[in-house]
Amino acid sequence: MSELFGRDIEVNRLIRALESNSWVAVLGPRMAGKTSLAVASSKEFARMHGYSTVYIDLRNSTTLREATERILRNLPQGVIKRLRSYLASVQVGGVGIRLKPKASASGALEEALRNLRKTVLILDEVQKVREGLPQFLSALSVAFNENPELLVVFSGSYAGLVRKLFSQTYSDGLYARQPLEITLNPWKRSVAEEFLKRGLAECRVGITENELEDVLWELGTLPGWLSAYGLRRCLGDDHVKALNRVSESAVMEAKRELENLLDGRSSNAPRVIKLLAYGATWSELEKTGISKRALHVLLDSLINDLYVVSKSRIGNRTVYQFTEPSYRKAAQLIELR
Ligand SMILES: Nc1ncnc2c1ncn2[C@@H]1O[C@H](COP(=O)(O)OP(=O)(O)O)[C@@H](O)[C@H]1O
Ligand SMILES: [Mg+2]
Repeated sequence: MSELFGRDIEVNRLIRALESNSWVAVLGPRMAGKTSLAVASSKEFARMHGYSTVYIDLRNSTTLREATERILRNLPQGVIKRLRSYLASVQVGGVGIRLKPKASASGALEEALRNLRKTVLILDEVQKVREGLPQFLSALSVAFNENPELLVVFSGSYAGLVRKLFSQTYSDGLYARQPLEITLNPWKRSVAEEFLKRGLAECRVGITENELEDVLWELGTLPGWLSAYGLRRCLGDDHVKALNRVSESAVMEAKRELENLLDGRSSNAPRVIKLLAYGATWSELEKTGISKRALHVLLDSLINDLYVVSKSRIGNRTVYQFTEPSYRKAAQLIELR
């Protein structure tokens, strides 16, 4: 159950964007399939047009230096050779690549990006790079302006930060135009059902309508959790075991993310989170005692950054609620201060 399912429109948009020389940002909630989409579409584009792809996971890179070293380790030997003056040691395979302590990381990055021929560079989870961010952006914008053979696909689970990264450089006049944004939403229910039925049929595991109902109710329709369930079933777990295991991980991850989000916020914020599990209006949320401003910032982050809360009209009321079952459960587990 691994090939890209139900994302034809997004794959085509990404490929067309690259074909018109545009850079791309793939945004959406965790487990929506951002990494999978970025990699699969870039590879397809590369195959059609004689490009190479380079994938960099920047999840653990918080500084420009770390990000640069990680990028350099994945570049072709030919490019690395030109960077000798910046590097402390070069080993075959790139494992040992380190910048000299005094070498300029942004200089090395600029030079490397300038020398890449026909390459799609996928920068995944870029939002953690905070120290040296202006130089990181500036090296990218130099490359954008000077090397038409370099295409970059950004992806990240904190859309606000990824977007801020662009809007800032854009308003500074660094980029000629903004990257195209592709937002990945959870699947429609019908697509999710089709995915599970087909995937399980391929490994000859049956699934009843009730089980299917159960899975979508507990896990929602994000590709990542559904494919984790499918994989467990294919490997021999029964329905209950597979569902419990995956649901547990989904809830734990959601809880961790909510705790991160709550860190350092108003002491009323956890109450707001709890209400969002059931759905609540603005005025109901305000009754927790949270200030208008803090509520606005919190909701904005949940809606536009993490994509886990939606705003819908029910009758004449506007109701805010977690869209994913795992977040609704996690919200109930959050401790009040
Ligand atoms: N369109 C899809 N079809 C099938 N499996 C998918 C699809 N999108 C994602 N997956 C699977 O879901 C899991 C999570 O996807 P990933 O791309 O890592 O999500 P994200 O980067 O948004 O967190 C991966 O194991 C991947 O194989
Ligand atoms: Mg990812």
